[in-house]
Amino acid sequence: MRNKKTYLVTGGAGFIGSNYIHYLFENYQQVKVVNLDKLTYAGNPENLADLKDNPDYIFVKGDICDAKIVNDIFVKFKPDFLINFAAESHVDRSIGDAEDFIRTDMYGVYVLLEATRKYGLERFIQISTDEVYGSIDSGSFTEESPLKPGNPYSASKAGGDRLAYSYFNTYKLPVIITRASNNYGPFQYPEKLIPLFVTNAMEDKPLPLYGDGKNVRDWLYVKDHCKAIEFALKNGKLGEVYNIAGGSEMENIEITKLILRLTGKTESLIKPVADRIGHDRRYSLNASKLKTLGWNQEHAFKTAMQETVDWYKKNRQWWEVLKSGEYLEYYKKHYKMEL
Ligand code: NAD
Ligand code: TYD
Repeated sequence: MRNKKTYLVTGGAGFIGSNYIHYLFENYQQVKVVNLDKLTYAGNPENLADLKDNPDYIFVKGDICDAKIVNDIFVKFKPDFLINFAAESHVDRSIGDAEDFIRTDMYGVYVLLEATRKYGLERFIQISTDEVYGSIDSGSFTEESPLKPGNPYSASKAGGDRLAYSYFNTYKLPVIITRASNNYGPFQYPEKLIPLFVTNAMEDKPLPLYGDGKNVRDWLYVKDHCKAIEFALKNGKLGEVYNIAGGSEMENIEITKLILRLTGKTESLIKPVADRIGHDRRYSLNASKLKTLGWNQEHAFKTAMQETVDWYKKNRQWWEVLKSGEYLEYYKKHYKMEL
């Protein structure tokens, strides 16, 4: 019997996936991680540079839509758990062109589920999102709320989410689905609200606030999210959905002003710009189902935001390379890889 559990983490070079891989190595002595990542613009080997020489960390550059590579990984590494983070994840890009979203966020999930059907494993965790419920003016969505995704990103995520459920229902695959609210923390690509505004503020560039700035998001610290995923994997019931909330709902204008205070900049940097089309007004989750099982958030919003801003201050080179558009050259030089 193998004493080391093997996690197949897909999309592990992105923001949440890389935090999750760090979480695994920080919390378990006996663990092996295979990270399958296509390295799109959002996948960054630098996020896991500290694990380069760890023999229990294996990086495979590849696409979850490629059945051959996925099957080869199942045969070679016999994963116990699969955590699927791989996705196109930015709403604005999905409004520009939805094709990659439909491919990765729906078809890619199908390929992973088919491999699981063929080779088996203990748990398949599909990382979904609160955005599949759509917008809610008051109150909060429970896991029983109907899905009403409002943009191509959330619609393709809803497709992947329900496809995963269908493989539980039809083939009894050991699927669990999590739907989390907006994450923030280290290693987030600087196109999303918090890292974009923090780094723009540090560079004295304008903060482009969409519409009236009153859209509401619930903010979840990525480290709390990682712990919740692990908790759901260990304690969740097969075929179930678990909401993961941060319990920190805020209008975009409020979080913008907070970022300016934490970076020591003035509100004159706020630049109101045209609204996102089809912009969901408010996301809000009721996470009592996971809390009843025993999950609890550990990080308070204010301290976690301070830590996040400090991380972007300390790791300027990490985001400067991404924002300058020179990252492809940078990766080639530092990682000797084909891109
Ligand atoms: P991200 O964009 O930072 O990372 C996505 C990763 O997936 C990248 O490393 C990318 O290279 C990889 N990838 C993309 N297409 C791939 C493919 N076809 N094959 C293999 N790898 C591929 O995203 P994130 O913010 O870390 O989000 C991770 C997951 O969590 C996504 O599924 C997202 O929908 C979900 N989620 C995100 C948030 C959030 O606030 N960021 C909230 C809830 C749920
Ligand atoms: P984002 O980080 O893109 O996450 P999502 O749209 O998936 O919730 O955006 C968070 C909120 O911030 C959303 O209401 C859109 C808004 N926003 C801006 O006002 N300006 C920006 O430049 C960005 C990227 C987002």
